[in-house]
Amino acid sequence: MSDRQKTHAAAAAFDYVEEGMTLGLGSGSTAEIFVRMLGERVRNGLNIKGVPTSDQTADLARDVGIPLLDVDHVDQIAVTIDGADEVDGRFQLIKGGGGRHLREKLIARASDLMVVIVDESKLVSTLGQFPLPVEVDPFGFSITARQIYQALSKAGVSKPDVQLRRKGDGLDPFITDGGNYILDCGCGEIPDASAVDVGLKDLPGVVEHGLFLNMARVVIVGEDHQARVMEL
Ligand code: 5RP
Repeated sequence: MSDRQKTHAAAAAFDYVEEGMTLGLGSGSTAEIFVRMLGERVRNGLNIKGVPTSDQTADLARDVGIPLLDVDHVDQIAVTIDGADEVDGRFQLIKGGGGRHLREKLIARASDLMVVIVDESKLVSTLGQFPLPVEVDPFGFSITARQIYQALSKAGVSKPDVQLRRKGDGLDPFITDGGNYILDCGCGEIPDASAVDVGLKDLPGVVEHGLFLNMARVVIVGEDHQARVMEL
């Protein structure tokens, strides 16, 4: 993880930002760097509006002076700029390390373009080293956890490991902005992300999982001295 690389990626994302746009504002440390830079541009006269993907991003955006729109009063989102936990060669993503993937996915899906900004450590040949976050309803979460295990096994994950995410104290469950739990699913490798997507969506207790398939069209990889822009 490199702040320098993240900063290069965030700066390069401005090639996709135009005057008058409504922007989806992602969550996490890389998106945070972008939001801070965006705030500076707004203070220097750029006219954009933001739609935040988390309470944390909303607080930061307000602090740095970005005008925000209520998600239910948005007609069109031109571009969403967000980070990721893993990115493969087909621009399939794992997100949700910060537990915000439900709102991130909702906003990205409502956007004309999703631009992903990452440092080099996020690039993988096969998704799955990073545990897949799955947001679940707290009601019956143990049942859902067993069903997720079975669904992952059926989708070809050899030894899934499903763990309830806890807060920093290690005791209480982590609660998402939407009031749900997160189950972090160790996979090792995800041989068929689409099969996992279908299997998890079939479970009633699953609110949303962190696989983003067919969503990102641009991935910007921050390197030590520059950013590499890849487009699908
Ligand atoms: C939050 C996310 C983040 O985008 C992801 O965790 C990457 O974060 P960072 O830029 O801090 O590495 O999906 O739910």
